[in-house]
Amino acid sequence: MATTSTQNTGSIKSIRDLEITGKTVFIRVDFNVPTSKPDANGECHVEDDNRIVEALPTIKYAIEKGAKLILASHLGRPDGKRKPEFSLAPVARRLQVLLGQDVTLADDCVGDGIELMAKSLKNGQVLLLENLRFHAEEEENETAFAGRLARLAQVYINDAFGTAHRKHASTYGVPVLVPVKGMGFLIEKELKFLDPLLHNPKKPFYAVLGGAKVTDKIKTIESLMRSVDAFLIGGAMAHAFWAAKGITVPQGAKQPKPDDVEAARNIMREAEKKEMKILIPDDTNLGFDIGEETIKKYIDFLGSAKTIFWNGPMGWFEKPEYSAGTFDIAKAVANFSALKVVGGGDTVSAIKNSGVADKFDHLSTGGGAVLEYLEGHGLPGIEILKQTTRQLATEQKHL
Ligand code: 3PG
Repeated sequence: MATTSTQNTGSIKSIRDLEITGKTVFIRVDFNVPTSKPDANGECHVEDDNRIVEALPTIKYAIEKGAKLILASHLGRPDGKRKPEFSLAPVARRLQVLLGQDVTLADDCVGDGIELMAKSLKNGQVLLLENLRFHAEEEENETAFAGRLARLAQVYINDAFGTAHRKHASTYGVPVLVPVKGMGFLIEKELKFLDPLLHNPKKPFYAVLGGAKVTDKIKTIESLMRSVDAFLIGGAMAHAFWAAKGITVPQGAKQPKPDDVEAARNIMREAEKKEMKILIPDDTNLGFDIGEETIKKYIDFLGSAKTIFWNGPMGWFEKPEYSAGTFDIAKAVANFSALKVVGGGDTVSAIKNSGVADKFDHLSTGGGAVLEYLEGHGLPGIEILKQTTRQLATEQKHL
């Protein structure tokens, strides 16, 4: 599998390299956060503001520099329709509290009224556009729609790592059209921790993989096989590895699908050729968590790591009786001196619930984006930030 030169930040400008004072800056953020059901006043609330908090350094920097900020995001999957439950209103309220200044929520993301609002912005003011996905053209990366967004600003910044694997208008079409562009501090930080996992991790490098399906992660596993020394498998994914080895999956536990078993078999075959270790559970807690012996074995093994990447819980951690696999390993790993990087929404939430999140070096804001980044082919929302002027001219013709 070929890697490209995409996995470095060399040719991408950081927001700190760009002149933004007095300029209108379009910042694509990922404010796709969980929100509550409406309360008695009909208002929804942000239930986990991590992604908003992680975007603050870029937003605050742009405010301090005296830029005029236009923030753009999607929330959920409204499928091109204006659905009130997907409004960014709860996000605007939360952001306003976190920033300690007014945030104006526009009632749309494109149109004459929005252009007027963008033009009226004063230095340091923040305008949050309404959900980009209220327009089907966003996900279609439609040229005219990208043009209407691009018209709003003089500088484009992408800081939406969690959405960088999507080739949408706001992540791809707009930066094609705006010549002055770069990345924010969140993307910069993500690349700083994720890139070495592919290229020069400190060895030994062990990847802990859990979650439900092998097939969802197959390309990531194949890619990581170039840099990883061992995989430690847990979660329902382990069942496919048992089945591939002829070990019976306990009754009542999730039975693996044939394509997952086939994928597990291929991974084990490939690992054997490379003399790479794949650790699978020796025991189980009723099929919903790895067993005590396995927890001990995994902790002992991880003790010698210099780099650890963790994606996917070891069991059904939301249920206290099946949380030991994930929480005990998290607590042990927290005290290891290895570089510890975690990716994936569930895993990050598990590590946070285990109470040791602050001892990990990096908790990625990306779910699918992390796995795709580690596939090694670069993400559209990041690749486009590298384009040269000549490439841009060609892109524009074909957009
Ligand atoms: C995510 O939560 O993974 C990102 O915001 C992308 O959302 P999507 O999977 O709906 O494109």
